[in-house]
Amino acid sequence: MIPPVGHLVRRQTASRDQSGHRDRVPAPTTLPAVQPALQGPGRLVDRHPRLGADRLLAELVPPPRFSTVSFDNYVPAPDQPSQRLAVQLVRGFAERLQDGGASGRSGLRGLFAGRQRPTSSDGRAGVYLDGGFGVGKTHLLASLWHEAPEPKRFGTFVEYTNLVGALGFRAAVDALSGHRLVCIDEFELDDPGDTVLMARLLRELVDAGTRLAATSNTLPDALGEGRFAAEDFLREIQSVAGHFDIVRVDGEDYRHRGLPRAPEPETDADVVARAAAAGPGAVLDDFGALLEHLSTVHPSRYGALLDGVESVFWRGVCPVADQSVALRLVVLADRLYDRDLPLVMSGTPLDSVFSAEMLRGGYRKKYRRAVSRLTALTREGHGDAARGEG
Ligand SMILES: Nc1ncnc2c1ncn2[C@@H]1O[C@H](COP(=O)(O)OP(=O)(O)O)[C@@H](O)[C@H]1O
Ligand SMILES: [Mg+2]
Repeated sequence: MIPPVGHLVRRQTASRDQSGHRDRVPAPTTLPAVQPALQGPGRLVDRHPRLGADRLLAELVPPPRFSTVSFDNYVPAPDQPSQRLAVQLVRGFAERLQDGGASGRSGLRGLFAGRQRPTSSDGRAGVYLDGGFGVGKTHLLASLWHEAPEPKRFGTFVEYTNLVGALGFRAAVDALSGHRLVCIDEFELDDPGDTVLMARLLRELVDAGTRLAATSNTLPDALGEGRFAAEDFLREIQSVAGHFDIVRVDGEDYRHRGLPRAPEPETDADVVARAAAAGPGAVLDDFGALLEHLSTVHPSRYGALLDGVESVFWRGVCPVADQSVALRLVVLADRLYDRDLPLVMSGTPLDSVFSAEMLRGGYRKKYRRAVSRLTALTREGHGDAARGEG
């Protein structure tokens, strides 16, 4: 039973203590619940998506944000030679896929003249793009996918673990083997169980002749943190490590933003008015009720929860104290970002939703990524011209 929404909606009175940390003690306020309207915006809390195996597989394509990227519209930073090399290497990998690995090898051999030389001049079954936040790893991975012959899949690490969870390991292997290319974005190494599972999956796919491409999972604003990601990756996936070429992508965040301050929240009344004016495809929710609803929907269905949604309105955003609630919000943030959905909100700025402890803890990568993504979507929703998306 979901408690009345008014009790869940809290607003933060932000002040800073001497260490500069925000005082996150929320002051409770009560808002009338968003009622289902005969016309006007719908509500995410009224949606209960169910996903079959077919749908999970069909969704393994690049998210809309990366539906039109290509090697040609990747602009290497002039002062970052590794970016130019990365495009060449991944392009070479794509060419070898096109002709089943029969040619393109000499070109690749030439390219591997420097530090990134593989032990095998034939190129390997996998390529791993390692680098910091916003350097275009996903852009390159999606570009590779677009050039690759069918059948092919593209998903985040989490989407593949969801797939295994939904189908079972053997059925997931069967569903994916026979593919020419499987792309795994944001390979996560923080859960030993999932890492072992994915290493086993990769082993089976390599044995079945599938080519693999993956990217490292790095967080914004953490200079050097992603530095040894490639070493960690190879160690953790030992059984297939020899099949991967490591491609390093150095540089600044392309969007020149790390963890920017979130735009100022709108008033509750403005959120409601803007949602009403936004037309079909707008969804307006009370934040507390939405978090409750998320606990009733499996995270693998959060994408489906957003079917047909074009803009998102949240009233009464408040700090999230509970880790499991916060992790669900992270998954929703990823799905919103995949779909590039503008977000308009009132309440606590989205960079203050996760506690300082969460932003320091074991899941900090996830939280920081969510803050960065929600902030970008809010900037879009609130009409801030500072958005520097490519
Ligand atoms: N060199 C580049 N040229 C053009 N667009 C880029 C470049 N690097 C990044 N982008 C764009 O910037 C955004 C962030 O890049 P992304 O691929 O998500 O970075 P990463 O996966 O490394 O964190 C995307 O919209 C991407 O298309
Ligand atoms: Mg990425």
